[in-house]
Amino acid sequence: MYKIFISVFCSALLLISCGDAVSFDCKKTVDVIDDKWINITNDCVTKVTNQVQTELQASITYLSMAAHFSSDFINLPGFAKFFFESASEERQHAIKLIEYLSMRGKLTTVENLIKFPKPVQVDLKNGLTALNSALSLEKDVTNSIKEVIAVCENSSGINDYHISDWLTGEYLEEQYKSMRDLAGKASTLTKLISKESHNKNLAEFIFDKKLLGIDF
Ligand SMILES: *[C@@H]1O[C@H](CO)[C@@H](O)[C@H](O)[C@H]1NC(C)=O
Ligand SMILES: *[C@@H]1O[C@H](CO)[C@@H](O)[C@H](O)[C@H]1NC(C)=O
Ligand SMILES: [Fe+2]
Repeated sequence: MYKIFISVFCSALLLISCGDAVSFDCKKTVDVIDDKWINITNDCVTKVTNQVQTELQASITYLSMAAHFSSDFINLPGFAKFFFESASEERQHAIKLIEYLSMRGKLTTVENLIKFPKPVQVDLKNGLTALNSALSLEKDVTNSIKEVIAVCENSSGINDYHISDWLTGEYLEEQYKSMRDLAGKASTLTKLISKESHNKNLAEFIFDKKLLGIDF
């Protein structure tokens, strides 16, 4: 119904403009939008599209980790908060990539863009194993971004300077910071546990309060 309306509307528009005495390329007015401005290789677009999926998978993984620490029998609200926030960040990374594809005129097919990713395997035995799993996940995401850059900066000999710069300056920067953050957290918790080795749960409890933003 909607489509019929559009086509009737366009034909009417065509009649009006073609009736005009002024020379006018009638065909062009109803043609698709000029796409000559679009200049990004398909290989690069494919890599970015897959990266959207990678970011969403990281987001879903963090969501499942957050749910784990939220449960009544684990009850570590600091870890839960930290992983809920991580999930939101990863979702935001996916959104930024989608917006980038849109900016470059390549958000044309969305069928393969958003799928339903399963969380990656993580070790939720305790807070420390969770932090180490998160670090390992971020390491994989970092490598994946590097592969996107490698393709986009030399796809069939064409260097897409803009996306290479953007991914290097924004994404890699954030990856290195978040990996450093996780490594630091894992290190602190490891030290706490070894000092309090007679009570690992107490060390984890104290660290959880730290993650909640409570200093003592
Ligand atoms: C796209 O960019 C390449 C170089 O990066 C250039 O050779 C080519 O002519 C451009 N194509 C269009 C349609 O502007
Ligand atoms: C870039 O790609 C071209 C064509 O695929 C290849 O011949 C060339 O060796 C590549 N350059 C680098 C620096 O990888
Ligand atoms: Fe990310």
